[in-house]
Amino acid sequence: MSENMSTAIICCENISKKFGTKTVLEDISFTVDRGEFLSLLGPSGCGKTTILRMLIGIEKPTSGKIIKNGVDITDVPPKDRNIGIVFQNYSLFPNMDVYHNISYALQFRKMEKEEIEARVREIIETVGLEDHIYKKPKQLSGGQQQRVAIARTLVLNPDIILFDEPMSALDAEIKVVLRQQLKDLQEKLGITMIYVTHDQEEAFALSDRVMVINDLQIAQLDTPYNIYHNPADQFVRRFVVDHLNQKIKSIEDVISEEKK
Ligand SMILES: Nc1ncnc2c1ncn2[C@@H]1O[C@H](COP(=O)(O)OP(=O)(O)O)[C@@H](O)[C@H]1O
Ligand SMILES: [Mg+2]
Repeated sequence: MSENMSTAIICCENISKKFGTKTVLEDISFTVDRGEFLSLLGPSGCGKTTILRMLIGIEKPTSGKIIKNGVDITDVPPKDRNIGIVFQNYSLFPNMDVYHNISYALQFRKMEKEEIEARVREIIETVGLEDHIYKKPKQLSGGQQQRVAIARTLVLNPDIILFDEPMSALDAEIKVVLRQQLKDLQEKLGITMIYVTHDQEEAFALSDRVMVINDLQIAQLDTPYNIYHNPADQFVRRFVVDHLNQKIKSIEDVISEEKK
């Protein structure tokens, strides 16, 4: 890597988004580092999904630029951005088994059959679904379905994966297990992940940094530790710090040692 090569994989510069006359986001700027796990945290309707939709390219900013690896991708179509997304409901094909859910997108690429098979099997191993290759989604647990959804984006070799509240439909106990699995997977792959949630604890447990969004803007973008100990304003204090204090015994149980 050359010395002046930036560690940033995404730079959003002065992004505003309006729907009709309604402003949803106003002049927000942020950078995501290569390999980072960043959460977007905020109340319902604050614009989290809209940010993901602009990053993936299915929504265009009203003004501002999105730079990826130093290239302006603001007008680049979704298929040429090399960014994957995992939706809340996973959107798996119910009639296809795990293998075919994962291989589906590769059929549209010019790839040899053997190459597709090797690639799909490698990904299945990476996410630990070897014992479930021929099962249909409804035969899988919520956690296994989530891994299929992740595998389906991984197979296309994206350099960023976006998640839109992937755990909000699951119950609390399963969430804690899945958080750990997702963290382990991210550490193993070193892939950049941007994760939308309205769950404070989830954001704090998973992330290198958390972006707290409120009132059209970024209220704070920092490490969980710094946000907890130094909230930027009254909103962050209430929405994040007070909320966490009500739910947890100790912040040390949520933020792992290396995330400080
Ligand atoms: N296509 C759209 N047309 C009009 N308004 C929209 C559209 N998409 C989102 N919005 C509005 O933008 C705001 C932010 O929405 P969203 O990004 O989905 O919030 P979040 O994901 O944080 O809950 C909401 O007020 C929502 O109603
Ligand atoms: Mg949303």
